[in-house]
Amino acid sequence: MQTIKRTRILDVLKSSEFGTTVNVKGWVRTRRGSKSVNFIALNDGSTIKNVQIVADVEKFGEETLKQITTGACLSVVGTLVESVGSGQNCEIQATEIEILGTCGSDYPMQKKGQSFEFMRQHAHMRLRTNTFGAVFRIRHNMAIAIHKYFHEHGFYYFHTPIITASDCEGAGQMFQVTTKNLYDLKKGEDGKIDYSDDFFGKQTSLTVSGQLEGELGATALGAIYTFGPTFRAENSNTPRHLAEFWMIEPEVAFNDITDNMDLAEDFIKYCVRWALDNCKDDLDFLNKMIDKTLLDRLHFVVEHDFVRLPYGEGIRILEEAIKNGHKFEFPVYWGVDLASEHERYLVEEHFKRPVILTDYPKEIKAFYMKLNDDGKTVRAMDVLFPQIGEIIGGSEREENYDKLMSRIEELHIPMKDMWWYLDTRKFGTCPHSGFGLGFERLILFVTGMQNIRDVIPFPRTPKSADF
Ligand code: 4AD
Ligand code: MG
Repeated sequence: MQTIKRTRILDVLKSSEFGTTVNVKGWVRTRRGSKSVNFIALNDGSTIKNVQIVADVEKFGEETLKQITTGACLSVVGTLVESVGSGQNCEIQATEIEILGTCGSDYPMQKKGQSFEFMRQHAHMRLRTNTFGAVFRIRHNMAIAIHKYFHEHGFYYFHTPIITASDCEGAGQMFQVTTKNLYDLKKGEDGKIDYSDDFFGKQTSLTVSGQLEGELGATALGAIYTFGPTFRAENSNTPRHLAEFWMIEPEVAFNDITDNMDLAEDFIKYCVRWALDNCKDDLDFLNKMIDKTLLDRLHFVVEHDFVRLPYGEGIRILEEAIKNGHKFEFPVYWGVDLASEHERYLVEEHFKRPVILTDYPKEIKAFYMKLNDDGKTVRAMDVLFPQIGEIIGGSEREENYDKLMSRIEELHIPMKDMWWYLDTRKFGTCPHSGFGLGFERLILFVTGMQNIRDVIPFPRTPKSADF
């Protein structure tokens, strides 16, 4: 085989240097043809589009061509020629074909139209399908957009620990990290496990959020963001929950809740606009195959202001809806933690646009949120999106040492673990705010996919940690 530098199919398809010799490598999507000529659709993952390889049957022989089945991996050298068929600008007239890897009929991604459930069971191979290729190219682009946005806006990327001894959200949904021998756990006289001889000398877990350490960063560097994996042992088997998900958490000194809302809205619009500007082929594909309203929804979000509304008002609207005959599965009353159906009613049916709900009852929010003057509500903000429900959760933080302490005591949060966090309120405290965006929820929104398990390459959910 001639040694020519490989060209990505993305670049080949953009080229109009007809007559030149190129080398492409990739996986066969389909092969079809007549007695004299075969057409091979080859994809290398650089784009949703395939390049068409034209192979002369007499030249390559039936026996060789028969091995070129769906999923096989090829290296092809050939001449770039202008395509006569519609749909593409060019194709490759093959001069040499090397089969790098054959692919048997037991290849699980054979057929078209497999269910997403089937593909989840073969998550290691689903990456090679059009849909998952599109989703993961978009996922990459969203990560780039996030870093670009914050870099351009003067934020520093701040790395917070994954192993931690504190429970940021206080929900007790943490995965423990230990090197203790689980077959021989010694307990103290009080019946509790003694962690003093454990690796860290205390009980540790995988983090549920980088926020607490993020606040330390923001009150030193001014504006930071985290972007890393977070873990929640919540037994929620829903299409919107993962046990391991990625979160983006900006935190800004001197920002109040209004600045925080402005940042959230501007940031999320930037990301969606980035997708529209940089992922056109993949979005067109998803709009055609997965959700025909996807592009309209993305444009709508970019072009319209989000509604901003106190929680109490939201409850009033939901109660009104019930009076007018709307049925919800879960009850609605002041103080309730809104269910996804309530959030989606407000967004999809009542306002028909994204909503930022603020000023939630303190009982349903975390300890660190700033208490309002009413003594009942906190300066929380959840951004609610069509099809998704909550996409962002955030707040202005309680910067007053005494008020924060009394919340910590009310909630019986172990003080000895929090001393370093409280120091921010002791030494030069300042107003500050931040939020967390669930990366996979953003990808769900931008791709139109229905299940969060289908927007992360290898999902971790209750009873499922394959691959
Ligand atoms: O609302 P949450 O729990 O907020 C926090 O963790 C704060 N510490 C954030 C902050 O203020 N810095 O989570 C933030 C977001 C949610 O809005 C949701 O998008 C996502 O993280 N999220 C999940 N995504 C997937 N699976 C789960 N189990 C999730 N739990 C939260
Ligand atoms: Mg939340």
